[in-house]
Amino acid sequence: MQRILICLVIIVSTQLLSCFSVDAVSRKTIRIGLITPPPHMWTQSAQQIAKSIQEKYPGEFEVSIFPSGQLGNEAQMLQLLQTGAIDFAFLTTSELANRLVEFSAFYTPYLVSDSKQAACLLSGKTAQQILKSTEKLGLVGMGIGMAGMRQIVARDLVLQQSDLQGLKVRVTPDLPLTDFWKLADTAPTAIPLSGLFDAFTNGQVDAMHIDFENTLRLKFYEHAKSVLQTDHMIFPMVALASAKSWRQLESNQKNYLKILFEQQLKQLRDGYSEADRKFKLLLIERGVNVISLDQEFFANASKLWLDRWQNRTPYVNLLKQEAMTIKQSSSCDLKGKETKQVLASDDKSSKKIILVGDVKSE
Ligand code: BEZ
Repeated sequence: MQRILICLVIIVSTQLLSCFSVDAVSRKTIRIGLITPPPHMWTQSAQQIAKSIQEKYPGEFEVSIFPSGQLGNEAQMLQLLQTGAIDFAFLTTSELANRLVEFSAFYTPYLVSDSKQAACLLSGKTAQQILKSTEKLGLVGMGIGMAGMRQIVARDLVLQQSDLQGLKVRVTPDLPLTDFWKLADTAPTAIPLSGLFDAFTNGQVDAMHIDFENTLRLKFYEHAKSVLQTDHMIFPMVALASAKSWRQLESNQKNYLKILFEQQLKQLRDGYSEADRKFKLLLIERGVNVISLDQEFFANASKLWLDRWQNRTPYVNLLKQEAMTIKQSSSCDLKGKETKQVLASDDKSSKKIILVGDVKSE
């Protein structure tokens, strides 16, 4: 109900005031939506972006962050972006993959071995080209972030792929991932992150495609006999602007925001290179037996998925080629457009960031 009200207020005020809403002293409000809760690394990044914008433009921009899917699910947030009812969002690739076949390439199984390589791949030129395809939806790609590598958490004991047969496995709601889990002989069930704890504990799903961070933070491990480190897929995050809102900004503001987002997203990608390992260690410290499984585990499903999807978009093979170069090199030398500029902000004004629905906003 609260979510519907927030959406209605945003939509009505947007119709009245066009994209950025402007208050009596002509301060513009920038709205950022995302599904992750306040402690999550994505929300922390959004907060950093908000803080920098407010320091750079004191009295000119106010930034409101709507975490935890307060504006609805990602399909609804995508629509809000398209109409200009919100200005920015951090989204998983799910809804984009359902609309733009280019994004299905990110679901290629076993592209890279770990989150460090994933961070490198997502800073490369193929990922940037995929991001650019969001223009077809009336969106502006601000950059790519990520979450941890995909693992499996199951209520019962799973030691080999056949143990998953017929199980209801939680997936994010998109075609390429659903297809992968069908090819792995399971019954994929789309559940958003916000509903996953209840779905897992009440038996709606038997297992999940998830990362170490959420396994730890949302305490899925307390209800699971198996936590399997499969590292079978990467999990990009896409930072998007509404093209409608973007057109209203001056070019120096656009330049500033482009650099700011890219810097912050780079930090997020680099952060996950380390954090993924840390979340695993924290799980082990809590007594979780994390079982590592090699690529044999999904060998059959991976082959079947590739047979089906690599002809649908050239980006599957392009990402695979880049990933191969990364695996063969000891450092990440594939970087696309690296952000070299430093964002100077002399303004020490500590403006309030509005994290809607959270009492500790900064
Ligand atoms: C998920 O749905 O698995 C997810 C969503 C956002 C961040 C990390 C994971």
